[in-house]
Amino acid sequence: MASSPDESAAAIIQALVSPAGRADPFPLYAAAHRNGAVQAITDTVFLVVGYAAVNQVLRNPGFALPSDPTDAGDAAALRLMNRSILRTNPPDHGRMRSLISQVFTPRRVGALQPTVVAAVDTLLEALADSGADGRTVDFMDRFAFQLPVTVICELLGIPMADHHQFRPLASALTAALELTGDVDGPADEAARELGKYFTHLIGERRTTPGDDLVSALVAARDADDARLSDEELLANLILLLVAGFETTTDLLGNGLTILLDRPDLAVAVRSGQITTAAFIEEALRYESPVQVTTRVASADGLVVEDVGIPAGSDLILLLGAANRDPARYPRPDRFDPTRADNKPLSFGAGQHICIGNNLARLEASVAFPRLLDRFPGLSADPGRQPVRRDRLVLRGYQTLPIRVRA
Ligand code: HEM
Repeated sequence: MASSPDESAAAIIQALVSPAGRADPFPLYAAAHRNGAVQAITDTVFLVVGYAAVNQVLRNPGFALPSDPTDAGDAAALRLMNRSILRTNPPDHGRMRSLISQVFTPRRVGALQPTVVAAVDTLLEALADSGADGRTVDFMDRFAFQLPVTVICELLGIPMADHHQFRPLASALTAALELTGDVDGPADEAARELGKYFTHLIGERRTTPGDDLVSALVAARDADDARLSDEELLANLILLLVAGFETTTDLLGNGLTILLDRPDLAVAVRSGQITTAAFIEEALRYESPVQVTTRVASADGLVVEDVGIPAGSDLILLLGAANRDPARYPRPDRFDPTRADNKPLSFGAGQHICIGNNLARLEASVAFPRLLDRFPGLSADPGRQPVRRDRLVLRGYQTLPIRVRA
C-alpha cells in the first residue's frame, strides 16, 4: 500500500516522466521502494522496482517483449525496433540471437582488446591537442561518443567517414523508447534515414563481402535456409549500431562524472586500490545507462513476489530502482565500489540479457585507467555545468565540459 496519496505507484510514474523526475529519479525510486517490490498502477499495469522482483520477471519467459508490430501503427521507429532481436519473442528471438551472439562471445570480444586500446589512445591524443593550454573540451562529443561508435562501426564494417552522422540519428531514434515516447516525427525520420543508409550498405556488402558483421548477416539472410528476413536484417543492423554506442557513451560519461566529483576515487582507481572492474560495476549500478524496460504478461497465473499479474498486463521494470533497492544494496544511494556481490541489473537478465555487455565492459575498462593516466590534471570545467540528456530510459549526458590540463 502507498504510504501517502502522492507516493502511489501512479503518482510516482507520473513524476518520473516529468522533467524533474527525468533529471533526478532517485528520490522517486526510494519512495517506490517504500511501497513494495511490485505495485499496481491500474488493474493491468504494474510497476516493478524490487531487485529480486525485476530479476524474476526478466528471467521468466512468461513475461514477453511488447513486440506486436501492429501496435506501432505506421510509426517507422517502433516498427523497426519491433522487428529486431530486442523486441522479439521465441521462437524468432532464439533464431536471431544465435546468429548475432556468435560475434559477441567472450573470446571474440577479448580479441578486440588491441583495437580498443588503439582507438582509446588515438582519442586521448586528440583530446590532449584540443585541450592544450587549459581549453575546455566536451568529453561526450570528443571521447564518450567517439570510442564506442568507432568500435561498433569497425565490427559492423561501417566506414569511418560516416560516424559523425550517427549520434543525432541514434538519439532521435531512441527517443521512441521513452515511456512517453515520441514515436513519430524525428524518431520516424531517423528510422527512415538509418534504413536508407543500411539498405545501401547491405547492397554493397552483398556484391563485395568483407570480414565484418554486416557481411556475415547478409550471408545468413541469403543462405538457403533463410535465417533472417530482409526486414529483420535491416532492423538488427540498425539496433546493433545504435545499441552498440548510445548506452556505452552514457556509461563513459556517467562514470567520468563520478570520478570528477570524487577525486578520492580517481586516486584510488589510478593507484589500483580500487580495481577498474569494481569501479565499472558500481558505476553501472549507481547510474545505470538503461533505467527502464518493459514486459507484457503472456500467460495466465503469473505471480511476482506474491502479486498476481493477469495475462495481458503491462509491466514497467525500473532497472535503475532495482539497482538501488535497499533490500539488496545497503545504503543504495552511496557510490561504493567495494560492495560485495555487486551484480546490477543494468544489462538486464535472462533471455534478452545484453549481447554487448562484454564489449561495453571492455571499452570502459580500457578507457578509464588510460584516461586517468594520460591526464593527471583532469577536472570538470568550473565555469560550465554538464548538461544531462532529457531522458528517463537512457540516462546520460549531452555535454560534459572538462579540462585535461590543470
Ligand atoms: C553500458 C552499455 C550497455 C548497456 C547498459 C546495455 C543495456 C542493455 C539492456 C538493459 C538490454 C536488455 C533489454 C531488455 O531485456 O529489455 C540490452 C539488450 C541488448 N543490447 Fe545492450 N547495453 C549496452 C551495450 C551494448 C552494446 C555495446 C551492444 C552491441 C554491440 C549492445 C547490444 C544489445 C542487443 C543486441 C540487445 C538485445 C538482446 C536481446 O534482446 O536478446 N548493447 N542491452
